[in-house]
Amino acid sequence: MPHSASNPSASNPAETNSPETWSQRFESALHPAIARFNASIGFDIQLIEYDLTGSQAHAKMLAHTGIIPADEGEQLVAGLEQIRQEYRAGHFTPGIEAEDVHFAVERRLTELVGDVGKKLHTARSRNDQVGTDTRLYLRSQIQTIRQRLREFQTVLLTLAEQNVETLIPGYTHLQRAQPLSLAHHLLAYFEMAERDWQRLGEIYQRVNVSPLGSGALAGTTFPIDRHYTAELLNFGGVYANSLDGVSDRDFAIEFLCASSLIMVHLSRLSEEVILWASEEFRFITLKDSCSTGSSIMPQKKNPDVPELVRGKTGRVFGHLQGLLVLMKGLPLAYNKDLQEDKEALFDAVLTVQSCLEAMTILLREGMEFRRDRLLEAVSEDFSNATDVADYLATKGVPFREAYNLVGKVVKTSLAQDKLLKDLTLEEWQTLHPKFEADIYDAIAPRQVVAARNSYGGTGFDQVRQALKSAQHRILNGG
Ligand code: ARG
Repeated sequence: MPHSASNPSASNPAETNSPETWSQRFESALHPAIARFNASIGFDIQLIEYDLTGSQAHAKMLAHTGIIPADEGEQLVAGLEQIRQEYRAGHFTPGIEAEDVHFAVERRLTELVGDVGKKLHTARSRNDQVGTDTRLYLRSQIQTIRQRLREFQTVLLTLAEQNVETLIPGYTHLQRAQPLSLAHHLLAYFEMAERDWQRLGEIYQRVNVSPLGSGALAGTTFPIDRHYTAELLNFGGVYANSLDGVSDRDFAIEFLCASSLIMVHLSRLSEEVILWASEEFRFITLKDSCSTGSSIMPQKKNPDVPELVRGKTGRVFGHLQGLLVLMKGLPLAYNKDLQEDKEALFDAVLTVQSCLEAMTILLREGMEFRRDRLLEAVSEDFSNATDVADYLATKGVPFREAYNLVGKVVKTSLAQDKLLKDLTLEEWQTLHPKFEADIYDAIAPRQVVAARNSYGGTGFDQVRQALKSAQHRILNGG
């Protein structure tokens, strides 16, 4: 081919068509642009620690089953450990000539331990190898994300504990609906995060299955022991079918789905924080540590953190969509398309972890609720109207009738530019004889909240119970 003739390194196949590993079937070198196009080392180097661990388990198994002599197994394991040290010290930086992390490691191993290094790939394919690496990687990332979720929940819990009796307007359709305990509002996010934490725990079970030993697609002619490697790598089980083992990415899609839901939750909270910080709401003040100014409008303080979280949410959804589409047309078993799963996973992992961290910091030290403003807000509207209807209903008036009457009360009050609390007892009694002086207590915001004492409601007693349950779950692992 012309390109190989003009390629200065064509005489050295290791430089161009990297893998000396390629069989003698190949006569000419890979086009340099195709080599770059094909290479995944630029991103899959992130898998190196898992690749080394997986390969060590494989080498031990080869020795354990007598496929290679015990001393050779030991040399392989030691050589792989040396690569780990080199990598950690920043001395192992393979370029694209290695194609991917698997070849890079195998090649370095052979440099370090000699020809015995070439035995590592006995009874294995990069197909089951990359599947193993990806699962080991995701297992560890899931643990980190679950930890971050716990930190996020802990800060929500702390804020909730401090704000059981702080009132905040509650909304439906973004219209004032009924006042709430601020703790109740915050605990709603705690519950979402709790489901996220549980969901990741469930998905972990399906990530934690070993494909190692599936070979390229059909298993292997060697007397391997798949359960042995699975046990060494702490997998909960092994794939029952080798074709499924090398080509399944359900676990990655499930992870992206769980990640998308975490982002939905963070994004909804972000949207609230952005609204709360606006001049229109003024429910919180943003601290300097978590907000930025404008380059032109000196009065501004911008909620960058929640805006970025809301914005980054789209990326994670995109990765989920990307992987679903990637998979839908793939015939069994491995196809190179699968190399595309990694950047999606890596980016989603990084995004979810950093967004959880940023939101935790924002809640913990980047914003402050303005209790004065919140009290003002819950006292200046008709969000106690339902309570007037409930008041009459308690006194025997059918609810629908009471509801209609209160509609009329709201209308007349609005016309007079009054709130319900401003009506005189006489006015109340003209509207309905069942109104008595205790109507004023019944419609005071604090009482409106306290009275919603149904299970899971915003009443202070319920909220205290909910706090206890939340604390219990955090301490006892859900
Ligand atoms: N870099 C490849 C990937 O990420 C490794 C597996 C390659 N297997 C193959 N048959 N070409 O999927």
